[in-house]
Amino acid sequence: METMSPGVSAEALNVLMTRQSHWPLAEPAPDDSQLQQIFDAALRAPDHGALRPWRFVLIRGNARLKLGELLVDLACTRAPEEPRSAHEHRGRRALAAPVVIALVASLTRETKVPEVEQLLSVGAAAMNMLNAIHALGFGGFWATGPDSYEPQMHRALGLTERDRLLGFLFVGTPPDGVRAVERPSSDRYVTEWLEAHA
Ligand SMILES: Cc1cc2nc3c(=O)[nH]c(=O)nc-3n(C[C@H](O)[C@H](O)[C@H](O)COP(=O)(O)O)c2cc1C
Repeated sequence: METMSPGVSAEALNVLMTRQSHWPLAEPAPDDSQLQQIFDAALRAPDHGALRPWRFVLIRGNARLKLGELLVDLACTRAPEEPRSAHEHRGRRALAAPVVIALVASLTRETKVPEVEQLLSVGAAAMNMLNAIHALGFGGFWATGPDSYEPQMHRALGLTERDRLLGFLFVGTPPDGVRAVERPSSDRYVTEWLEAHA
């Protein structure tokens, strides 16, 4: 991939300022080399202790049908009083994008780096991925939903006891292009600290 000199940043900044989430997403999906770029961007996230806590499980093609079945199974388990047909729509979530990436934090216990910092690092990796997805001309959506917290989902994805599922990135092409999204002014969230509070 081309490297960028620090001064030539207007385009990069424009990517950050124009990213937005898209749902659902259509074909085309990023191809293998574009996915590689997206994963490489993830690995540029800050990472205290160089623990490399991120893991990504790529789900695409017909594997999404299996994921969909699992989503229906999980919904049935959560609400067994309802017939399976009432939960079938849950399975369609897996087909809401041509590529789905499970975001996993693989936590190291034998370290001074607190767990929260390892989780933040994977969150930062996910953000880099969303920005890379956008920079490549695709769209993304980060979703957790109740399924991310189900042990059955963790087992199905091959997670171990040290892993946390931080959600799924849905990736593809936004069918409707750009949406108008109003963003609040950052002033509301920024204060300048000058001295200790009494
Ligand atoms: C960890 C995480 C989990 C999320 N899970 C969901 C979700 O399950 N469902 C949902 O509608 N939005 C979810 N969101 C929010 C969307 O990804 C998205 O940020 C939101 O729709 C606002 O769109 P924007 O990114 O264009 O500002 C989640 C965001 C994060 C950071």
